[in-house]
Amino acid sequence: MPDIKTEKKLCPAPTLELLATLYTLDQLKSYVHDRPQIALAGRSNVGKSSLINALARRKKLAKVSSEPGKTRSVNLFEVKPDGFCLTDLPGYGYARRGHEERRCWAELIQNYLEKTPTLRALALLIDCRIPTQESDRVMADFAKAHKLPVIPILTKADKCTLKERSAQMKTWERILGVKPVAVSSVSKLGIDELWERLREAGKIEEPAAPEEAMTENREAPACAE
Ligand code: GTP
Ligand code: MG
Repeated sequence: MPDIKTEKKLCPAPTLELLATLYTLDQLKSYVHDRPQIALAGRSNVGKSSLINALARRKKLAKVSSEPGKTRSVNLFEVKPDGFCLTDLPGYGYARRGHEERRCWAELIQNYLEKTPTLRALALLIDCRIPTQESDRVMADFAKAHKLPVIPILTKADKCTLKERSAQMKTWERILGVKPVAVSSVSKLGIDELWERLREAGKIEEPAAPEEAMTENREAPACAE
């Protein structure tokens, strides 16, 4: 009698590899975007870089800190074997950094979101313990206005009660019309489900006809500061 457990095909989990770290507008502008990308956007400290590490099942692939404002560059991670990229962005909405520094990050985020021709989706990270913030709504509106699919992600699920989580799920599903995924980079809750959503959104298809593949310029969300 064959053992059903050993007969079951094992699908290897995808891996992540750092492809590029872009600190300046010039670096961003000269970067050749040659593969689909999904951007991880969200307020400072929401858990973007921790989520990259949880998805990669590694501890120090992306830099994490308890102090907001840790990520200062646009970091592209290639998903293997799929071929698309996850982009870890600096966070927005952190008031305690200097004005000049915030302006540079805002410019980087804005430029990345507006000018990346291969941007496929926005993974919008929202802290499940914090009430709806204006900056997150503005980011959601930006995606809607530009028909950019959104994957809402409620982070730090290990730190909120089921009741809080389900209230946030309902709120964001109403705002975006898409069911959020609740995740925890600590307990790894929701990581497998999130991988499925990301792989679906980043799937590489047959090359489009030249006129369909043309770059579309988007207008920046005003909140990205
Ligand atoms: P910036 O780079 O500043 O924009 O922040 P970020 O969004 O990349 O956040 P980061 O991943 O650096 O995490 C911020 C803090 O939240 C760190 O202290 C993490 O350990 C903590 N954190 C992140 N995810 C989780 C989570 O799922 N659960 C808990 N309990 N803590 C988390
Ligand atoms: Mg970060």
